[in-house]
Amino acid sequence: MPKFLVNVYLVTLLVFLGHNVEGLGVNWGDISSHKLPPKDVVKMLQENGIKKVKLFNNDETVLNALAGTGMEVMIGISNQLLKDLVNPEVAKKWVKENVTRYEPKSPKGVNITLVGIGNEPFLRDYKDTLTNVTGPALENIQNALNDAGLGDTTKATVPLNADVYLSPSWNPVPSAGFFRADIVEPLKYILKVLDKNNAPFMVNIYPFLSLYYGNGAFPFDYAFFDGVSNPLKDKDGVEYTNCFDANLDTCAAALAGEGYSNMTIMVGEMGWPTDGNPYGNVTLAEKFYKGFISYLAKGKGSPRRPGNIEAYIFALFDEDRKSTLPGNFETHWGLYYDDGTPKFPLDLHGKNKTLVPVPNVEKLSKKWCVVKPDVNNFTGLTTYACDRADCTPLTKGSSCQNLNDADKASYAVNAYFQSQQQKDDSCDFEGKATVTTKDPSQGTCNFTIGFKTLTSLAPSPSHLPSSDHSSSSDAKPHSSSSISLSPPKSLAFASMGIFFLVSVFNNL
Ligand SMILES: *[C@@H]1O[C@H](CO)[C@@H](O)[C@H](O)[C@H]1NC(C)=O
Ligand SMILES: *[C@@H]1O[C@H](CO)[C@@H](O)[C@H](O)[C@H]1NC(C)=O
Ligand SMILES: *[C@@H]1O[C@H](CO)[C@@H](O)[C@H](O)[C@H]1NC(C)=O
Ligand SMILES: *[C@@H]1O[C@H](CO)[C@@H](O)[C@H](O)[C@H]1NC(C)=O
Ligand SMILES: *[C@@H]1O[C@H](CO)[C@@H](O)[C@H](O)[C@H]1NC(C)=O
Ligand SMILES: *[C@@H]1O[C@H](CO)[C@@H](O)[C@H](O)[C@H]1NC(C)=O
Ligand SMILES: *[C@@H]1O[C@H](CO)[C@@H](O)[C@H](O)[C@H]1NC(C)=O
Ligand SMILES: *[C@@H]1O[C@H](CO)[C@@H](O)[C@H](O)[C@H]1NC(C)=O
Repeated sequence: MPKFLVNVYLVTLLVFLGHNVEGLGVNWGDISSHKLPPKDVVKMLQENGIKKVKLFNNDETVLNALAGTGMEVMIGISNQLLKDLVNPEVAKKWVKENVTRYEPKSPKGVNITLVGIGNEPFLRDYKDTLTNVTGPALENIQNALNDAGLGDTTKATVPLNADVYLSPSWNPVPSAGFFRADIVEPLKYILKVLDKNNAPFMVNIYPFLSLYYGNGAFPFDYAFFDGVSNPLKDKDGVEYTNCFDANLDTCAAALAGEGYSNMTIMVGEMGWPTDGNPYGNVTLAEKFYKGFISYLAKGKGSPRRPGNIEAYIFALFDEDRKSTLPGNFETHWGLYYDDGTPKFPLDLHGKNKTLVPVPNVEKLSKKWCVVKPDVNNFTGLTTYACDRADCTPLTKGSSCQNLNDADKASYAVNAYFQSQQQKDDSCDFEGKATVTTKDPSQGTCNFTIGFKTLTSLAPSPSHLPSSDHSSSSDAKPHSSSSISLSPPKSLAFASMGIFFLVSVFNNL
């Protein structure tokens, strides 16, 4: 091939790849005790070429930072608000104050393209409290958007957990997918509204949770995108080599069953945590994301849904105030650590670039807090520190599990010390702890250093790694990682991926 043709080919390939990962967005949550300035975060997103963000609320400072960037923004409405939005007047006011005000159609405004109505409102854990209000809330918000002249560019949708659909245990294949019987009626209401307004169906899909809830029964390779030796066989010779495709197509089949075979499916959350579980580490997260990004870049889609897929990574940052009731990995979903450092290199756009960090972050001094050598009862100080800072790396299967008791106590007091911005009196613990300049990190266990932040919230009380954290408190789980507070009960439904693949593989 002549050289210029090679170049044309390369350029075409790059443009092609670059174009096709444009469906990629990120979930930017804020359940953190220490936050980075939204302006700097937006700069980072722009430098990474990320053009879509999904928020869980409508924080003014975040929206102001996104104004004028052209970035596509999905804002959220909390589950608690849904019952009020059954009143159309309340919905109208909500849209006026929280959408129209930001002038979504103006180049100087915030390009709000999606509004999330609640978050996974049909989770079994909510015991039906939201099933009858979600549809009307969706309808009222979309009507209000339409009345405000925004209906063509701003769509309301309901981010759902993948447990709303499944396949029968006697035919556990994607093509047999259907919606859960207990929510199918309220869901039909939602589908009608979405269809009428040409709005997308949104679902959260987590191959990690398939492994987690699968307890060893789920075939490991299916969680990734590197191929498997033993594909799942569906009818008409269709084969599945990863549970993302299988899950997505189960959803597509369920939609087709209700007469919506053409409804757009968007993936609201998709990600891999890096600690708090044997499957949660940086190596596996990197493997997962590399596979997923290249899957998206190819633009091939799944057997039933060929073509580009819009998907939002969960999440942008680690969020230390998330409830750990669903699992100790909950505080480790970030593509970035809470200090704005990427956890691993990742090329989001097929342009041979890697993730850039958040600019202007100032790390605190190279100082750590450790327990003094003569201390031998660690109970009191560990409880105190872990009640107020994130100690999940100390739990079984996590990055610091192999430390001895004294070092574990040091990890705990250091986590507290850093969360307190290294304030002098925060490394005392009645004289049992002291500051050192020698990094106590060992092996996979990272004794972190904090960063300077303006917003430092009251600590979350729900971080005890022991089982006695009774308070789920303010940090209501908001990702589908909150799938279940009691894994065994919902194992069958936790993720479609697990249920049918486990049964299929037990039968092979
Ligand atoms: C909003 O995003 C869409 C999709 O990328 C784009 O077509 C549109 O021009 C943007 N609107 C503004 C006002 O930036
Ligand atoms: C705007 O949104 C916030 C958060 O969802 C909510 O508390 C507030 O009531 C909304 N404004 C109106 C007028 O509904
Ligand atoms: C929801 O609505 C259905 C149909 O009107 C009704 O049978 C059911 O009891 C309602 N559920 C709740 C929790 O209100
Ligand atoms: C789906 O879209 C295709 C192509 O646009 C069209 O031929 C088909 O009739 C549509 N099906 C439904 C159920 O709307
Ligand atoms: C990551 O997790 C996998 C599965 O548990 C394990 O095989 C691997 O050794 C881990 N890697 C690191 C670096 O911890
Ligand atoms: C990608 O970048 C790296 C270093 O920045 C370079 O070594 C490598 O050759 C590049 N690869 C391609 C395909 O351009
Ligand atoms: C260790 O400290 C805890 C809390 O301060 C206390 O309740 C416990 O009795 C102590 N254990 C021993 C063996 O002294
Ligand atoms: C340790 O964690 C911090 C964030 O708290 C991160 O910036 C740093 O890169 C991590 N170091 C290692 C070796 O993983």
